[in-house]
Amino acid sequence: MSSNIDIQKFYNYEINKNRYAVIAQAEFGPQILRIATEVQELKAQGETVYDFTVGDFMPAQFRIPKFLQEKIKKAIDDGETHYPPGKGVLSLRKAVQSMYSRKFGMDFPLDSFVIASGARPLLYSLYRAVVDPGDKVIYAVPSWNNHYYVHLFSANGIAIQADRETRFLPTKEAIQPHIKDATLIVLNSPLNPSGTVFSKEALEGICDMVLEENQRRSPEQKPLYIAYDQIYWQITFGDFEHYSPVDLRPELAPFTVLIDGVSKSYAGTGLRVGWAAAPPDIAAKMVSSFGHSGCWAPRAEQVGVAEFLNNETEVVKHQKEFNNGVHARLELIYKHLNGMKDEGFPIDAIEPMGAIYLSVYFGIVGKTTKSGRVLTDNEEARKYLLERTGLAAIPFYAFGSDKIGWFRFSVGSVSIKDINEVMPKLREALNEIEF
Ligand SMILES: Cc1ncc(COP(=O)(O)O)c(C=O)c1O
Repeated sequence: MSSNIDIQKFYNYEINKNRYAVIAQAEFGPQILRIATEVQELKAQGETVYDFTVGDFMPAQFRIPKFLQEKIKKAIDDGETHYPPGKGVLSLRKAVQSMYSRKFGMDFPLDSFVIASGARPLLYSLYRAVVDPGDKVIYAVPSWNNHYYVHLFSANGIAIQADRETRFLPTKEAIQPHIKDATLIVLNSPLNPSGTVFSKEALEGICDMVLEENQRRSPEQKPLYIAYDQIYWQITFGDFEHYSPVDLRPELAPFTVLIDGVSKSYAGTGLRVGWAAAPPDIAAKMVSSFGHSGCWAPRAEQVGVAEFLNNETEVVKHQKEFNNGVHARLELIYKHLNGMKDEGFPIDAIEPMGAIYLSVYFGIVGKTTKSGRVLTDNEEARKYLLERTGLAAIPFYAFGSDKIGWFRFSVGSVSIKDINEVMPKLREALNEIEF
């Protein structure tokens, strides 16, 4: 028998950037994943790591609803394994339509709803549908992945640096100077990475400005669209409520695409089911692009999610338990940090409002430890905390922000015990810094 051909030896060529399309020549892999990979490697080496990095859920902490799991299994048993329709399985589109009607009081036509394999392909297809190379796309930072979408579509990205004072969300005033000739404003609330939400008034201000701008444009011109990423809308706490542009200003419906799915609210990041509510013509263009990228959600999972969403009792049961679990973790970190702040440590944190994140500030960048280690920048500060305490969090720079000392804490992978264990270690590590 002849021996196999070793293909690896044919790959031993020198890498030259001209092998790639111009867009692929730049680094466009998410920074967050780089840090998360480093953390996984440490864990694999047996190190104790308190992993507050990825916006994901470890099944030991958060599971998808049992009812949903059973319905997906049943759909496979029933042979729901062939291609789904391009727009998505009808029962799921109807289930989302009726959920939006119940929860938001908004009656969208069925043609508004399209299903894809998560929120990402919906954002991607929305860009495909409305953004030409060079078009102006406005977004605020810190935020999740906007700069990568802008890069992939050769758009002219306008990144607004948002501050703690505005909950790290963009204001009408900050957007206003850029709005003329812009094609798309991308908004996200509850916000990844800050865990903050738009107040009703703040969002209304932005909505009115977009309406005014679209009234100014002629029907021949491309309008100004809003991509409203509300993937965390079901995770809000206490008095903090979720608002969407279309429920506040229904006249915005022709210009607004709502992005949503099962990834976060139902701890189903690996299920890959998302949906958008879009003007029907834009929805149709998005579906045309799914036809080529093949980013449909798996058929059996669409069927299972439809059955779950139609069972209000199961949804409410899950949401209560899940939100309580997320909130308890966020509140506990917040309480520990406030305790340290009261002791005089340079710490700030924003009260948990929504999503699975907490914004935390450590005034340690530029400081020196008692053993002489200088924490020159955000990255050095991050490494110090990781090496000294095992605490892994993501600095805001990974979300495009220029803010120094701010970190995102994500709680989908940690237990209450983990939090109670790491916080005294954090206190010790801060105590070793000369303030
Ligand atoms: C704001 C936001 N939108 C979209 C996504 C991606 O969702 P999916 O996993 O459904 O593609 C994430 C994931 O972290 C997110 O934080």
